Amino acid sequence: MRTKIAAGNWKMFKTTREARDFFKEWETLVAQAAVKEGAALAKKSDEAVTTKPQTKTVFFPSTILLGTVAETTADLNIEFGPQNIAWQKEGAFTGETSAVTAKEMGATYALIGHSERRSLFHETDEVIAKKVAFADSVGLIPMLCIGETLAERESGHTERVVSTQLRLGLSQLPATTAANGRAPFVIAYEPVWAIGTGKVATPEQAEDVHTFLRSELKELRGAAVADIVPILYGGSVKPDNAVVLSQRKNIDGFLVGGASLKPSDFLAISSAL
Ligand code: PGA
Repeated sequence: MRTKIAAGNWKMFKTTREARDFFKEWETLVAQAAVKEGAALAKKSDEAVTTKPQTKTVFFPSTILLGTVAETTADLNIEFGPQNIAWQKEGAFTGETSAVTAKEMGATYALIGHSERRSLFHETDEVIAKKVAFADSVGLIPMLCIGETLAERESGHTERVVSTQLRLGLSQLPATTAANGRAPFVIAYEPVWAIGTGKVATPEQAEDVHTFLRSELKELRGAAVADIVPILYGGSVKPDNAVVLSQRKNIDGFLVGGASLKPSDFLAISSAL
């Protein structure tokens, strides 16, 4: 069974105080939801309870907030990571984010290759591949973002684009087995035309690409890895579209921007999984 993941990409939003307030409210809402869920589960059979897939909640705050998030969430059941990392351990890289330091702070994931990094900061597939491999080498799980632009979709090139980004992005990552049942990386499919636009892919459009990516992963890394790697959908995910998207076989979770900034919205999205 694949792990389900609700990941929140805060981008360059929230001050330290706003981040603290977010998690205070988050804790209250999670406690309230647990009481409700406990009552509902008590009515279900043991089998229904044990077969429910595990859902992880992961936050990607801006680098400057990583320490605050680490401290504030120490007792919460969440994971976190940086939105970008450098591909080397240390050195003369003014303005970059150290994966080693993030790991020391308690990070478990690293977001890599987000479309805003590609378009605004000119990250190439080659740089992204180095970052993916470096994250893995320091024990952070790389979450590789890929996705086509509107022009690429409309000209029928979606599969070619995401396949290239997937293959190049993973090209420097050593072959890893899934023998311990742990996914060595996560893929986030985020069509660029759906990010921050309010235009969400239909469940069919998303599932088609996820199914294609799963088959690509099988070819690249073998069936055991392909079966266990979560493929998340991102791009205007909101509480009201999360349920239908989550019902698709190959959609294992979400990477959420705008709606992850509000605790009640993000919790609703995570609960849809
Ligand atoms: P959005 O952003 O949910 O605001 O569309 C998604 C992302 O950029 O990861």
